[in-house]
Amino acid sequence: MPRPADRISAARFFAYSLVAYRIIGGVARARGPTPAGASDAAFSVAARASLEMPPSRPPSRLAIRADLLDFVDDPGFAVDPGPAAVRFLPDGWLLVEEQRIAAALPADQDPGAGWTRLDRRGQLLLPGFIDTHVHAPQLDVIASFGTELLDWLRTYTFPAEQRYADPAVAEAGAERFLDALLASGVTAAAVFPTVHRISAETLFASAQRRGMRLITGKVLMDRNSPDALRDRDVAGAERDCVDLIECWHGRDRLGYAVTPRFAPTSSDDQLALCGRLLRDYAGRAGGLYLQTHLAENRAEVDWVRSLFPQARSYLDVYARHDLLGPRSIFAHGIWLDPADRAALAEAGAQIAFCPSSNLFLGSGLFGWGEADAARVAVTLASDVGGGTSLCPLRTMADAYKAMALRGERLTAWKALYSATRGAARALGLEHEIGHFGAGTMADFTLWHWAHGPVQQRRQDMARNLHERVFAWMLLGDERNLVASHVGGRQMYAS
Ligand code: GUN
Ligand code: ZN
Repeated sequence: MPRPADRISAARFFAYSLVAYRIIGGVARARGPTPAGASDAAFSVAARASLEMPPSRPPSRLAIRADLLDFVDDPGFAVDPGPAAVRFLPDGWLLVEEQRIAAALPADQDPGAGWTRLDRRGQLLLPGFIDTHVHAPQLDVIASFGTELLDWLRTYTFPAEQRYADPAVAEAGAERFLDALLASGVTAAAVFPTVHRISAETLFASAQRRGMRLITGKVLMDRNSPDALRDRDVAGAERDCVDLIECWHGRDRLGYAVTPRFAPTSSDDQLALCGRLLRDYAGRAGGLYLQTHLAENRAEVDWVRSLFPQARSYLDVYARHDLLGPRSIFAHGIWLDPADRAALAEAGAQIAFCPSSNLFLGSGLFGWGEADAARVAVTLASDVGGGTSLCPLRTMADAYKAMALRGERLTAWKALYSATRGAARALGLEHEIGHFGAGTMADFTLWHWAHGPVQQRRQDMARNLHERVFAWMLLGDERNLVASHVGGRQMYAS
């Protein structure tokens, strides 16, 4: 049971009707006072993490009965890719033992005695979704009216991000953001905080308390941005990054991403620092990640051309600093040419396709077909607050519509794969997340097939499994979400 000091309300306990255990939605945490006006350096969330009490535990052996859906392999763009790619176990069993998946079994293979049972028949059980590109502080500006990318940054985003210099704002923002991810069915993410070291530190600490898989790193900017959001010099930025990497990278389920915001806001010296960090830590816990923006908007691409006249292309600015690798995540990648796509494929880097943001900011229509033909890995991302929803179902529905405008068709299989196992594969995390393979972490989500009469009617009329799943994906949203589990623990319930 939680101690009185914990910020857990009674409403966040869930008594399952068929089982006699209780688990905590949200993580028990003892919170010390935030020192008023504390500086980034003085306020060490890492040090405070040792004060946290352990969260209460789910049963050590849990069997959940529901309609299980996950992917064994990339389904491609076929509507009927077959069981070699798609695994659907109606009324199946997901066995969870000590935070990990023990097995996914068909309906007729009862797990037997010794398992605590959770009956969710009639609900859809999926691996937790992975958002490969999202900005934590931008919940504060989501759905801001009337601008394209560069004006949007100046008018809304940069002013909002300045507030995250305050440790109390950064900590509250990290908590709110991760709770919002979980309430959208997202259990793992690659996240941009702000340029402030404290904003990365609070995200790491909040994710650690929740047991989440999280990739983040302090944003780097040393030009073309407001004073309050600018790294003073390369040496200071390097110190901040090294301290954060040493403290967090490879700890529990956390990974560090070197995070130059985008080429226009980093000098060549700062981009060189990024390359150096990637090299210096290549041997540590699989290496660091690299996350940034790429070729999102035509005015941005023109600006990059004028800032880096020696580079062949926008991507080449990053390539010249050795920022292309198998752990590199490039958000958007709309305005690329064949040589760029070949370079991305060669490096094993991924494009995070952000359809909601691309539509909302009027940035353009990403060509998944061209990327696929060039063998570039593509994952799905919300890019909130350019994007307008954290919910992966909304992202996938927007992806379908954006692709339809180019005459391309996104199946439910390809979309779901790309937001689960495909993302895990692109991040080098297939051993840990994204599917129901034995030994992976028990990060999973439960969904209502239908919320409301329109969705229900469409479900009733579906003639095959793809129709059913596609209608769920197009019509559903976070209101369909029943629960999100991380490492077996229920962290959100509707
Ligand atoms: N390019 C540089 N910064 C950003 C950002 O915060 N959001 C989006 N969508 N694009 C960017
Ligand atoms: Zn972004």
